[in-house]
Parts: sequence; C-alpha cells; structure tokens
Amino acid sequence: MTNDQESPVEERTVRRLAPGPSGSVLFGALSSFKKDTLKLLVELQRRYGGIVRTKMGPYLVHQITEPEHVKHVLQDNSRNYSRGRFYQGFKLFFGHGMLTTDGPEWKTRRAVSQPFFHRAKLRAGAPTITDTVNELLDSWADPAARDEPVDITDDMMRLAMGVLGRLLYGVDLRDYAERLLPAVRFSLKAMILTGEVKQMLPRWVPTRYQRQLKHYQRVLNGVMDEIIELHRRGEGSDDSVVTALLNATHDVTGKPFTNTQIRAELKTLFLAGHETTGCALTWTLYALAQHADVRRALERELTEVLGERVPTADDLPNLPYLRQVVDESLRLYPPIWLFPRDAISDDEIGGYHVPAGSTVLIPLYAAHHNAATWESPEAFDPNRFCAARRDRYDYFPFGGGARKCIGMDLALLEIQLTVAMVAQRYRLSLVAGHPVTPGALVSLRPLPSVLMSIRRRH
Ligand code: HEM
Repeated sequence: MTNDQESPVEERTVRRLAPGPSGSVLFGALSSFKKDTLKLLVELQRRYGGIVRTKMGPYLVHQITEPEHVKHVLQDNSRNYSRGRFYQGFKLFFGHGMLTTDGPEWKTRRAVSQPFFHRAKLRAGAPTITDTVNELLDSWADPAARDEPVDITDDMMRLAMGVLGRLLYGVDLRDYAERLLPAVRFSLKAMILTGEVKQMLPRWVPTRYQRQLKHYQRVLNGVMDEIIELHRRGEGSDDSVVTALLNATHDVTGKPFTNTQIRAELKTLFLAGHETTGCALTWTLYALAQHADVRRALERELTEVLGERVPTADDLPNLPYLRQVVDESLRLYPPIWLFPRDAISDDEIGGYHVPAGSTVLIPLYAAHHNAATWESPEAFDPNRFCAARRDRYDYFPFGGGARKCIGMDLALLEIQLTVAMVAQRYRLSLVAGHPVTPGALVSLRPLPSVLMSIRRRH
C-alpha cells in the first residue's frame, strides 16, 4: 500500500503544492543562483505568482511575495519560523547575536539595545549626524574645486560608520576604517551560502579562503575588543551600547553578558547598521543624479523650507518630498533585498503546503519590483509615495513583525538629513564610462562603485 492510499482524503486535498518550475530543481547548484539572482527572483514572481515552490541545491524553498503571505510569516504565524539554515552563514561574521538568534536568546539581546533607538534619543542625536555630514561635505570642497571624481560608495560607507560609532559606541569608527572596510567587503560575500567548494570544505583544510576568512574574523573581533576594553578601563562613554551591554544581565543565563556575547552585539549593530545605510545613501544620491526633474523638485523644497541652514529632526515633517525620494529609493534599491526563514512545523501558506524544515525566502526586491503592485516598477518616481501606503507588506524595506529592523528610525533620520544636506550644497553627476549595477551580496551593493563629479551649488 502506498502512502497516498494510507492518507486520509482530507490530508491529500489539503496538501496542495505551490506552483513552481517543473521538476522543482531550478538551481542545479547554489552558485548558478548567484549569477543573475535579482532578475531570477522577479521572473519567478512574474511567472508563478506570490508563492513559488522550488529547490535551491538540496533545499526545498518557497519564495513568497504576496503581501498576505509575507504578513503570515513575519507577523501572524511568526512563532513557526526561525532564522534557519541560511542565517547560519551570517554567524561567521555577526556571531551569535541579535540578528542570528531566536526566542529568549534574541529577546534579551534586543532589550539591551532597544533604548538607543527610541525616537527621543535619536532626535537628541540628530546634531551628531549633521556634524558628521558637515565634516564630509567640507572635505568635498577640494575635489569639487579641482573637478576630481569622488567615490560616493566609499564616502557613504564611512559616513554611516562615523554616525553609527558616535551615536552607539561613543567612538569614531572611522578611526578604524582602514581595518574594518576590507573585512566588511570580504564578509559580504563570505556570508552568502553559494555552494562553492571553498565554502563547503571543513574549516581545518588550509586553503587561501580559510586563511582569509580567519584573518578578517580576527580583524573584526580585534576592533570590537579594543572598544570593549576602552569601556572596561572607564575611558568609554557612559551613554553607549557598549556600557549598556557591560552592565546588562543575560535573561537566559542570569549572568552578565560574556565578552564574546558583547562582541557579537557590537559586530551585529555595526555590520547590519552601516552597510545598509551606506547602500541606501549611495543609491539615493545615484538616483538623484540620474533624474534631474526629481533633483530640481527636491532642491525647491529644501530652499523653501530650509534655505541654507542645517536641517534638524523637527524640519523633517515639513519636507514631504524628501521623504518620498528616500521611500522610493528604498523601494527600487532595497539594501536588504532578501531574507530567509525556516518553517519549524508544517504550515499552510495561501492554501499551499509548506513542510517543516523547509525554507521560506522573502525577496523584498521582487516584491518591490512587482508589476502587479507597482506601475512601471523599474521607474524612479517619488510621486508614487504621495498617498499613504495601502498595504504594509507590499513595501517593507525594513522587514516586519517583532523582528523588524531595530535601526529603522535611525536609518531614516540619517538618510533624510544627509540627502538634504548634500542637495543643499552640491550637485552630483555620474562620471561617464563607469556603469553601476546592483550587486546581490548580503546587501544590495552598487557595483563596482559609484563615481561622481561634484559641483558646489552656491
Ligand atoms: C537603510 C538602512 C537599513 C535597512 C534597509 C535595514 C533592513 C533591515 C531588514 C530588512 C531587517 C529584517 C531582517 C529579517 O527579518 O530577517 C533588519 C534587521 C535588523 N537591522 Fe536593519 N536595516 C537598516 C539599518 C539598520 C541600522 C542603522 C541598524 C543599527 C544600527 C540596523 C540593525 C538591524 C538589526 C540588529 C536587525 C535584526 C533585528 C532583530 O532581528 O531583532 N539596521 N534590517
């Protein structure tokens, strides 16, 4: 007797399988998935709809983009979903921290950092942001005068690093940039499971890749340890996440956080916070340089509301077009373009069976480029954000549910202030002959880099 004959009729009818490419094995190897990932995700969504069943290498995967399905996984039935196997790769550089853990282990970590992201605290930090932006804009005076191109990606990463360090760690992380930036660049590729042999070999096999991996892990750990040590010696800020972590009690162990645990939190905030914000800033300036009409409308608003004065957090509600520009940039170029979950128990999404242990991928890049939701999805048009959003889960650059990005308000504040200040002072244009494409690394990186000419406005 086959399993089918043994199954009750109800079970057989309930277990409908979601549509997907025939034979289910779409990606013969994970490495082929890497080649044109973004197009592939959009194409799957277009061809099969809001839930697609497929296989990535040996793994059964459901890609979901339908807003109700995304809400189901992130919010309504979120208890049934863990970070899962694809987040394991992130532990290589993030460690065992807020981003990579679940349940009480996650909760105790999030609770320690949360007060640093409250709106009132962020408003108080706005002058630190505008000071840091001013330093950068002053440093552009020379290249502007000499008509030398500037690497905007690099500058935006350093800016985001500077802001994050000053606001959260009470130190200027740009002082560590020469060590940190190469480690970040390596980690962005290493953390994505590609199925390549170099990643699959046991850690003890002495390959060049393993040596590099260990080297950059040591670099990142080393910088975080120096910052912790500074605080232990009493030379750090009393009002920093580092001090809060040193004074906190871990809910699960009932003991203080260990050095490894504190380091993981610092790495998590650093990696999750500066790279995403740096990408968002770069893409927004890139889009403005490509769309003179949008840039002019933004300049008009800034002139009317601010003139030449430095913006404050209180100005932002009076700058609606600035916010629309940022929202549209986060739609077209979502810095986190995909994130995964694994189903703990069998589930049903939109009437389709999702077995325990399988992976659910949430490609927000495909959701944000869905032609069924967005008219001319490839166009950069801030006016689509004039009206209030209809559905939270057709646009979710910061995720959703309890695991929604802790840094959302900080990122939005920083991006708006920075874009306003850049547009007040400079006009940026892309250097010809340096095309840019979105690279699907851990973040959506503009590759190879965004080179711009900068010209003073006044
Ligand atoms: C434009 C900038 C940013 C974008 C687009 C972004 C996007 C996201 C997304 C989509 C998630 C959810 C991932 C998931 O559910 O699997 C997330 C989580 C997270 N983000 Fe952000 N992020 C940004 C800035 C920041 C900043 C500035 C920080 C901190 C300084 C930060 C720290 C984190 C952390 C720690 C998590 C994990 C939260 C948790 O699981 O409880 N992010 N981010």
